Amino acid sequence: MKKELIELKVNGRMRELAVAPSKVLLEVLREDLQLTGSKRGCDDSSCGACTVLVDGTPMLSCTLLAASCQEQEITTVEGISEHGSLAAIQKAYGDRGGAQCGYCTPGFIITVKHLLSVNPNPSDEEIREALSGNLCRCTGYSQMYEAIKAAIEAEQRGLAAL
Ligand code: FES
Ligand code: FES
Repeated sequence: MKKELIELKVNGRMRELAVAPSKVLLEVLREDLQLTGSKRGCDDSSCGACTVLVDGTPMLSCTLLAASCQEQEITTVEGISEHGSLAAIQKAYGDRGGAQCGYCTPGFIITVKHLLSVNPNPSDEEIREALSGNLCRCTGYSQMYEAIKAAIEAEQRGLAAL
């Protein structure tokens, strides 16, 4: 099958890749770029484990053709650390036991990162709504919600300190 040349900006770095037209973004990230943080859970848009930001919007990379992302900016869980340190949500996940097996975690982290960028002080209902497309088989969700609340508080303390 003839490959197409595409350019993507991935975690701030321009990448030029030859991809088959049928290749999805998740495969390009994991197989061509060795960015294995994004996970393949269901492969049919049901679980959210493959969530990445495409031009700042959360998208399911398991069903998104890589060729359709020409010249777009992709952010994966590997790209959200801040100045070499863990993002507030990553740190809170670690501190509060937000992950057990961790398979769903990159997708949740990306979704929360986006939520806090558009709504720095979400209500419980808004958090639940934002996370409704991400599934976790292990945690029962309560520690994740605690981690998200802790990240919100940490970000607010950070803003207050500016
Ligand atoms: S692997 Fe993409 S939504 Fe489940
Ligand atoms: S921590 Fe295992 S699926 Fe969520």
